[in-house]
Amino acid sequence: MLKGKTIVLGITGGIAAYKAADLASKLTQAGAKVEVIMTAAATKFITPLTLRNITHRPVVTDMFELASEWSVEHVALAEAADVVVVAPATANSIARLAAGIADDMLGTVLLATKAPVVIAPAMNDLMYSNKVTQENIKKLKARGFNFIEPEYGRLASGKMGKGRLPDTPKIIEAIEHALGQKRDFEGKTIVVTAGGTREPIDPVRHIGNRSSGKMGYALAEAARDRGAKVTLISANVSLDAPADVTIIKAPTALEMKQAVGEAVKKADVLIMAAAVADYQLEVIAKNKIKKESGRNLTLNLVRTPDILGEVKGHFIRVGFAAESENLVANAKKKLTDKKLDLIIANDITKTDSGFDANTNRVVIINKKGKAEELPLMSKREVADKILDKVKELIK
Ligand code: C5P
Repeated sequence: MLKGKTIVLGITGGIAAYKAADLASKLTQAGAKVEVIMTAAATKFITPLTLRNITHRPVVTDMFELASEWSVEHVALAEAADVVVVAPATANSIARLAAGIADDMLGTVLLATKAPVVIAPAMNDLMYSNKVTQENIKKLKARGFNFIEPEYGRLASGKMGKGRLPDTPKIIEAIEHALGQKRDFEGKTIVVTAGGTREPIDPVRHIGNRSSGKMGYALAEAARDRGAKVTLISANVSLDAPADVTIIKAPTALEMKQAVGEAVKKADVLIMAAAVADYQLEVIAKNKIKKESGRNLTLNLVRTPDILGEVKGHFIRVGFAAESENLVANAKKKLTDKKLDLIIANDITKTDSGFDANTNRVVIINKKGKAEELPLMSKREVADKILDKVKELIK
């Protein structure tokens, strides 16, 4: 996978910079063309000459250096890259990227490239855990930058802590993963619904459900990363809004129906991961309902519209079926009733799958009734598996 690939390796000024030599060497041995960019501080820890001899390529250390073949058009390197790796990435270099500073070659390439970027932070444990650094990392992750967790171990200070650059094989694994990232939804528009709707009873109370929205948000992020234009119709969640995704708030079933009807007009795919209430109040009380001792309260509930079953238009329809029993049989019935292309049957009987978990255990069932059971995996991995199936249907 590395053979023939152009890997831009950014080295920043941390003690772990010396380990970048091993990384450059292994990547070169694997057949990659490694273009090294060193920040000024990095050259205090390891010499450009070392990297030049390892990669057999000129090493860029200064944007205005005329001898460099890349200096004439500095974005050329950004364009040539199949992947950009920053290893080690100091707290300073991460902060600069988060702020969009581009006054050196590495900063410029990181802003100009369309290639996937892998960042391997390595620093003092206190600097790593500092909220400023963590906020910068969170912001960059939301923008699609890939991060490799630093490891726990002995740091340059002599103390034990989390901040060590992982070993070369681990970094290479992350690079290969980034290189494998597909942009197979370029030009496609995907509408994803997420979270649980809440049906108001009165100005204070509602009927809700346990959906966290994590599966839908993971789908939106995965589709975005694969090049799709994404509209995320979000019911009630407490999750950060993903970057570069259009978010439409739809707290109730009726608002979601309205938002979905509008969004699908330009969509190639609709994925309904939201847990939509099946019933709403027949009448929503204008004022807070007062309790009366010795009396029961009866609420009159009426059916909500079946959004997925009723929405009109030509697009691929994907539904979810959260089930606590007869998983596949119940899901298959919904697939037929709602005339879906795919249904994702979701086992909600275990704590590591379904509501609020970060992992999920699903069965993907297609129109022909073919069921594929997936093992337990992260919701992001499930999202990519679902998109793989959707991609086959688009073809
Ligand atoms: O019928 P059931 O609620 O089990 O079906 C689940 C699927 O249908 C999910 O994809 C859900 O988002 C969707 N749904 C809907 N409108 C409803 C109820 C569920 O679109 N009122």
